[in-house]
Amino acid sequence: MKALVVGSGGREHTLVWSLLQSPKITEVVCVPGNGGTATLPHCRNLPLNVSDFEGIARFALVNNLELVVVGPEQPLAEGITDYLQGQGLKVFGPCQAGAQIEASKAWAKALMVEAGIPTAKAIAFDDEAAALAYLEQQGAPIVVKADGLAAGKGVTVAHTLDAATQAVAEIFSGKFGAAGSQVVIEEFMTGQEASVLAVTDGQTITPLIPAQDHKAIGEGDTGPNTGGMGAYAPTPVVTPALMERVQREVLEPAIATLRQRGIDYRGILYAGLMITPAGDPKVVEFNCRFGDPEAQVVLPLLETPLEEVMLACIEGRLDGLEIEWKPGAAACVVVAAEGYPDSYPKGMEIAGLDEVAETGALVFQAGTRLKGGSIVANGGRVLGVTGLGDTFEAAIANAYTGIDKIRFEGMYHRRDIGYRVQGIAAG
Ligand code: AMP
Ligand code: GLY
Repeated sequence: MKALVVGSGGREHTLVWSLLQSPKITEVVCVPGNGGTATLPHCRNLPLNVSDFEGIARFALVNNLELVVVGPEQPLAEGITDYLQGQGLKVFGPCQAGAQIEASKAWAKALMVEAGIPTAKAIAFDDEAAALAYLEQQGAPIVVKADGLAAGKGVTVAHTLDAATQAVAEIFSGKFGAAGSQVVIEEFMTGQEASVLAVTDGQTITPLIPAQDHKAIGEGDTGPNTGGMGAYAPTPVVTPALMERVQREVLEPAIATLRQRGIDYRGILYAGLMITPAGDPKVVEFNCRFGDPEAQVVLPLLETPLEEVMLACIEGRLDGLEIEWKPGAAACVVVAAEGYPDSYPKGMEIAGLDEVAETGALVFQAGTRLKGGSIVANGGRVLGVTGLGDTFEAAIANAYTGIDKIRFEGMYHRRDIGYRVQGIAAG
């Protein structure tokens, strides 16, 4: 079977790699892909835009690609699944109506309230004066969010009223385009965050192993938020008992309520959770796709072939599938270009990629491209190195041993990925 993966980040390199672990998958085409997918055996890149649904459909049909996997949220929110399915293709990723669960925070919040899912209290405003009046009344700390997709940059956790006021003004100033036509003002929650990704066929919803990521650029989880500087799985923070509650209180009500609204949601449902100091799970957000870098630690531990899981979702057979996992732990450390998450240079040549294999660690490239036989940096998050081991300590050490082999000008990574689980036995 041949497959097509849409996207160009570390998540998509991981999806391609994971699909190719299956003896049934002979070839994967990545649209548009990166330096990693350009050089992976049995994979090739196709230089189309992820929003070129017609081009993608034509290529997939002509070349008999039987499975299309959509990595990022943008094309899902634009309706890639509906379009490609209409052309007779099998697509992993929810329909446009379902993708609203990520694409509109106000819509997602209304769904959570209707479903009775525990989450922070929030109100949506399309009027700046009303939003500011509400802020005055609530006070800080408070969280201000642009309603729509803002590439992870639309959220301000404001510790002062000034910061909150500024965030509201910024959103209504048009900085986020249409994504900022509404602002969601949300109660501030404390606790530890965890990512529970689940697969669903619209009826059955099965959680994958739980992960945690490090969003902040700086060590000790300080500084501005990024797309994610590292991750690990299976995190012991989400105990089996807590996972039961997430299943009952979050995942099942979400799918049931989507179904009541006539939305046949199939693919990944990613619940970003806050585990409160009292130990209760509350939803921070839902995403309609794999996390990045969560995919880089969850997929390498998947024992069941990925395409089997995906086809079971697409074909409504998830009920009969037992998903199996490898023992041990995985940790991913992201290497970024100097300056990220602000502006950063591109084009630096990356050395040492081949040497990482000797360490047993896996390199998943993100912002890279192939240029005249070399891999060069082409984005803020340049690559991730995933280490595996019997314990978190071993997995984390393996990731850092891998990173030591890599060199490029101005490379930056955090040295404390997984500090919360150091010394804790993996599941
Ligand atoms: P989101 O894009 O909604 O996931 O928000 C990005 C990040 O902002 C989250 O991962 C949290 O770290 C933080 N955040 C969002 N909402 C809240 C909240 N209500 N309370 C505390 N932190 C939050
Ligand atoms: N790592 C967070 C995300 O993918 O949204």
